[in-house]
Amino acid sequence: MNNILNISLKGLLSAILFLLSFSISYSQKKSSNDSIDYKVESLLKKMTLEEKVGQMNQYNGFWDVTGPTPKEGNAKQKYEHLKKGLVGSVLNVEGTTNVRKLQEIVVKESRLGIPLLFGFDVIHGHKTLSPIPLGESASWDLAAIEKSARAAAVEASAVGINWTFAPMVDISRDARWGRVMEGAGEDPYLGSKIGIARVHGFQGEDLSAPTSIVACAKHFAGYGFVEAGREYNSVDVGTSTLYNIILPSFKAAVDNGVGTVMNAFNILNGVPSTGNKFLLREILKSKWGFKGFVVSDWGSIGEMVDHGFAKNIKETAEIAANAGSDMDMESYAYITYLKQLVEEGKVDAKVIDDAVRRILRIKFKLGLFDNPYKYCDTKREQEIINHPDRASVLEMAKKSIVLLKNENNLLPLNINQQNIAVIGSLANDKNSPLGNWRFGAKDSSAISFLEGLNKYTTNYKYAKGTDLTTGKTVFPLELNINETDTSQFAEAVNLAKNSGVVLMVLGEHGFQSGEGRSRTKLGLPGVQQQLLEAVYKVNKNIVLVLMNGRPLALPWAAEHVPSIVEAWQLGTETGDAIAQVLFGDYNPSGKLPITFPRSVGQCPIFYNHYHTGRASAKSKDEVFYSHYTDESVSPLYPFGYGLSYTKFQYSNLTIDASDAMHIKVKATITNTGKREGEEVAQLYIHQKVASVVRPVKELKGFQKFSLSPNESKEITFTLTDAELGFYNNEGKYVVEPGEFDVMIGTNSQEGLMGTFTRK
Ligand code: NOJ
Repeated sequence: MNNILNISLKGLLSAILFLLSFSISYSQKKSSNDSIDYKVESLLKKMTLEEKVGQMNQYNGFWDVTGPTPKEGNAKQKYEHLKKGLVGSVLNVEGTTNVRKLQEIVVKESRLGIPLLFGFDVIHGHKTLSPIPLGESASWDLAAIEKSARAAAVEASAVGINWTFAPMVDISRDARWGRVMEGAGEDPYLGSKIGIARVHGFQGEDLSAPTSIVACAKHFAGYGFVEAGREYNSVDVGTSTLYNIILPSFKAAVDNGVGTVMNAFNILNGVPSTGNKFLLREILKSKWGFKGFVVSDWGSIGEMVDHGFAKNIKETAEIAANAGSDMDMESYAYITYLKQLVEEGKVDAKVIDDAVRRILRIKFKLGLFDNPYKYCDTKREQEIINHPDRASVLEMAKKSIVLLKNENNLLPLNINQQNIAVIGSLANDKNSPLGNWRFGAKDSSAISFLEGLNKYTTNYKYAKGTDLTTGKTVFPLELNINETDTSQFAEAVNLAKNSGVVLMVLGEHGFQSGEGRSRTKLGLPGVQQQLLEAVYKVNKNIVLVLMNGRPLALPWAAEHVPSIVEAWQLGTETGDAIAQVLFGDYNPSGKLPITFPRSVGQCPIFYNHYHTGRASAKSKDEVFYSHYTDESVSPLYPFGYGLSYTKFQYSNLTIDASDAMHIKVKATITNTGKREGEEVAQLYIHQKVASVVRPVKELKGFQKFSLSPNESKEITFTLTDAELGFYNNEGKYVVEPGEFDVMIGTNSQEGLMGTFTRK
């Protein structure tokens, strides 16, 4: 009895202590926010209208350009504006010396000395590159993804950057769109979780820490749905897609404290996102209570003239500011016209104050007013840059690899494997595996496939077979996209003929995906497909290692080639990561975050589609049902798919729906193979009847865990209203009682099925 009392007293005490510490930290946070608000208000009172508009102005630096080149003569104007305090932020400036130089101009020479924000596209690492975001997302490992963003923030902050234009949380279902490489794939649930991990990683626990940088959820909103996957194209989506697919990952980022949001280039249902009051004022700032600021995309304010939404640049400034875009990236619209627009009564002074408040708040949170040079420590810069955390980057790269096929256990290779042939120009490429968005990194700084292989064996011969690049320059592109030259085939085929196993490293060049890189073909670029088939004719023992920034449609390879490894663009440690997988030192555990189509004509293809009224044929000769006459409707590889060198068996699905608020779904997973391995168990639901039809399946949970041979694990998913509801066509989140299908499985197509009723 005494014991019980003791325990419950202890419990009570620790609960009180917990509540106390919670309330202390809550009130500390609150008072620091209050004092920031106070400081913001005091500063705002001192500012002239011109200085306020200046804070809303962002210029590209003079070192690097990630959009159309600024007009001649701008450099001088930018310098003058810095001195007058008419610039709130610059982008594309890095290095403590460069950053300090610009920061000193505003701090020492401008009237109020308001420090600058330094923005940069830190997308997948800075100097040391982790896999492209789509690749990282294939790990389904949120802790690893957060750690990767943290490492990127540590490097970026060491070279003067305090704001990254990441994460891109655009959901996309279209492999033709080049920017799928930059996101988390097609699913809003997985995409939200990954977005949150990245925001936490970049921003750290506290924005004022020296290694924290502000994150930016982009591109708000709809950019991933550009028509026909064509870059910068229009977006026209229904309310259900907008509320349930496009917006949730942004809301998740906002709910988790993301400091900034970036506009999208596209029009959304007829209104440019940059001038979209409904998106920015109604949803983001009002409904979601976003307290950070919105930056335009590069020139997206000015482009509203091209869209046919504004007569001239002056009008774009009026529309964008009133809609809620707080900072102008490289349109020169705000700095040129906003003051005049306020004086003419077209933009309310309150709109300007609101925008400036938001921008200053972030600057205070970063601690820039206490020390504007906190990101300019040259000693730290050297230390961090010279001692990168390559071990974590390698770990992330291995986790990102997806094993797509492994017939007859061709993989892993035996270390004593004789007579290896390596074919494909990507095998010897140190640049392409860095992927796109790698401005901070040195060109050709990746460990190539061959360099990784060398650490295991030198018992191989190499033939390129074809060239993906001309080898002339890196940027602008010198790609052999339309390569037709097959003169190097003979050497490769001869080599394959006399080899035990052929490792073919094929795919896209790193600069074939990313911004402005939409494609209409999803096969292997150039003559690589012919090369693959020519080699297959003489040797079927092929391990195809794919490097690509988007899903590729490779039905021939999927049918014929015995082993296929999806290796994306894995960044700095590419070669080592792949070699460790090929030789079995790492058991692949990645799962596709996006569907791989059979043919480009299936795009957009995604797992969470709706039921049609005619999903299947009623008889053999039936034609009036939802299908293609020349291709299957099924994907080549479904969302969530990925193999391991071991096998996992799913059993014992049980469901307890007695508590409507906490429905428990359980299953047992057993490693029935011979190796230890990691599995990602996925939970999908489908509400059978609802006021707005529900997708055939929706991911609502996943767990990644490791199992030794013969080991079993019971996993439990708890479904609450947060998982069971949906946004109706009025944008209201509703939970409707009714019957649900549920599946726990190894990918979106295979698993244990059950049903339950949510009372
Ligand atoms: C345009 C891109 O759309 C955006 O994502 C990027 O952050 C900016 N350029 C700045 O480089």
